[in-house]
Amino acid sequence: MTEQHDQASWHLETSLVHAGDRTAPPVATPTVTPIYTSTTYLYPTLDELDAAFVSGEGYFYTRYGNPTVAAFEQALAQAEAARGAVAYSSGMAALHAALLAASTPRGETAPRPTSILAARDLYGSTTVLLEELFAARGAQVNYVDLCDAEATAAALQAYAPVVVLAESISNPLLHVLDLAKLVEQCRSYGARLVIDATLATPVLQRPLTLGVDLVVHSATKYLGGHGDAAGGIVAARTGLLHVTLVQQSRLLGATLGPYEAQQLQRGMKTLALRMERQCANAAQVAAYLTTHPAVAHVYYPGLAEHPGHTLAAAAFGGRFGGLVSFELAASTALPRFVDALRLFLPATTLGDLYSLVSVPALASHRELTPEQRAERGISAGLVRLSLGIEAIDDLLADLQQALACLEAA
Ligand SMILES: Cc1ncc(COP(=O)(O)O)c(C=O)c1O
Repeated sequence: MTEQHDQASWHLETSLVHAGDRTAPPVATPTVTPIYTSTTYLYPTLDELDAAFVSGEGYFYTRYGNPTVAAFEQALAQAEAARGAVAYSSGMAALHAALLAASTPRGETAPRPTSILAARDLYGSTTVLLEELFAARGAQVNYVDLCDAEATAAALQAYAPVVVLAESISNPLLHVLDLAKLVEQCRSYGARLVIDATLATPVLQRPLTLGVDLVVHSATKYLGGHGDAAGGIVAARTGLLHVTLVQQSRLLGATLGPYEAQQLQRGMKTLALRMERQCANAAQVAAYLTTHPAVAHVYYPGLAEHPGHTLAAAAFGGRFGGLVSFELAASTALPRFVDALRLFLPATTLGDLYSLVSVPALASHRELTPEQRAERGISAGLVRLSLGIEAIDDLLADLQQALACLEAA
């Protein structure tokens, strides 16, 4: 620790290293949380540092906690009505952490090789995570259509899973889960339920209030919303699961950095506004695509013919999400259609405030084998649109001209 009165006697080299740092914190409260880049925190005495380590409270080393990251965690925990949340450097790290925490028996700190029952329709890398980091290390991993209550009951009975994993709105086929029913089923078999709510966001649904155990977000998507920060976060319904996440995250080490935490928290401030606009744009795009002869099928929970429509209408407060997927009548026309788009950006992500187009077989699900894609209904002609906040007329005009290119060819 440096004392102010020593500074006058410092040589230039010493001043360059120390001057300006460790001054008293500002007297007034900053309106927004500053970006705390310091990796360490100082205590007046060694005893006080030791006491901070023992209690686990306060900050001492950034992998154990950082005030900027804590602000983002608090914002998400409040949005999800959670007991606490833990942030990670990506959505995949968050999923990994959630699966480890959910497979840690109550009262223990280490996860056990486990039995996981997963939805068949999941983001591609999530399936690969289950196969390559869990099944390959001795976990039992089974898949079922979790929208089918009878098949789910049979799978719970047959496999006795410790963890059930699903997406509340699935990527990319936009299946909608009956979370209240699934919570009931998981509880009666003693399984913990982990929900990836990246596509729904807390604006559409707050799964913990329905009894889900852990909620996961790829914050890279809607929470951040601007395509400039990667991150993930897990929100816990119970204090026990929160503590488990905190303890394990210190060892996993996939900690979120303070710069990203600040950007993601800033993104969250406009999440509700963005979602309203993105859902409204998606509804209009879905309605338009159903009328076009070059389009064979549209997947969108807001359409009356979508199998999850009634459920989604009740669960999501009249919004149906910002993604629309569809099959072109001629899958060979797909590259021409995507290349002809001018406003929709062909970027492999979703949830940003600009509109995006992606081909799941080539992007989000390219790591799956052709057989795995076929089992999951992900065809070569499937297109996924993520609607941004642009003016709807410009978006419709862009789709119209790109589809017209197919007719002309
Ligand atoms: C539903 C879903 N969950 C998790 C992830 C992984 O997130 P990240 O890319 O931030 O690791 C993605 C990425 O696209 C996703 O779509």
